Amino acid sequence: TTGGTDAQKRRAGESAAEAVSDGDVVGLGTGSTAAHAIRAIGRAVDAGLDVRGVPTSFDARACARDHGIPTVGLDTVCGPDGPGIDIAIDGADQVVLTGEGGDVEEVSGTLIKGGGAAHAREKVVDAAADRLLVVVDPSKVTNVLTADVPVEVLPEAHTTAATAIRDAGGEPTLRRAERKDGPVVTDNGNLVLDCSFDAIADPGRLAGTLSAIPGVLDHGLFVDMADEVHVGDDDGVAIHEI
Ligand code: A5P
Repeated sequence: TTGGTDAQKRRAGESAAEAVSDGDVVGLGTGSTAAHAIRAIGRAVDAGLDVRGVPTSFDARACARDHGIPTVGLDTVCGPDGPGIDIAIDGADQVVLTGEGGDVEEVSGTLIKGGGAAHAREKVVDAAADRLLVVVDPSKVTNVLTADVPVEVLPEAHTTAATAIRDAGGEPTLRRAERKDGPVVTDNGNLVLDCSFDAIADPGRLAGTLSAIPGVLDHGLFVDMADEVHVGDDDGVAIHEI
């Protein structure tokens, strides 16, 4: 879900992949921009880099496998004696950056994710990482979040959760599959409500409200998680440290 070009996404993904060091455990994000990072890491592995990847989705796992990156489970690396995750690289559907015409400094680096319905597992992996590098094209950058917030819900709870989301000022729409009669089912077997809130003035507060709704697995607001945002454009990459 992007208005950017593949070349812009590639520059962002390759820039973040350069931050991966020998011996790292790397969270592998989902989407077309993160896939460029996975491919770049795969080329580095071919050249001798020793890393292990923790995929955030079915597609990220397949991409890692196709590009020769050994994968490891989150429960293995993040157990009591595990090494943890050194760095995660992930895409986003919208990201707030200061200096883009807004004065919302306190929420700079806040993301909306889940355009590919992978946000629940992405959030677990991205939150477990020491550093989260976000890779986007310029069409994702904004001074205030306006995109729909994807909310993953237990199938049984989709109507009760939708009512609670309406009560919180949102307008939920059950995400439907394109080439199937019925809803999108996530990698975790759940459903997705895409929720419109217009401009989100206080993402931290909305994140807490959504998380508290019974039957909500997770939502696509990522607050206080990003450490760097790599924005690929037609000439190069701007790296914003948060
Ligand atoms: C997956 O659910 C999302 O969070 C993706 O990370 C996001 O949609 C970015 O995808 P693109 O890089 O393909 O725009």
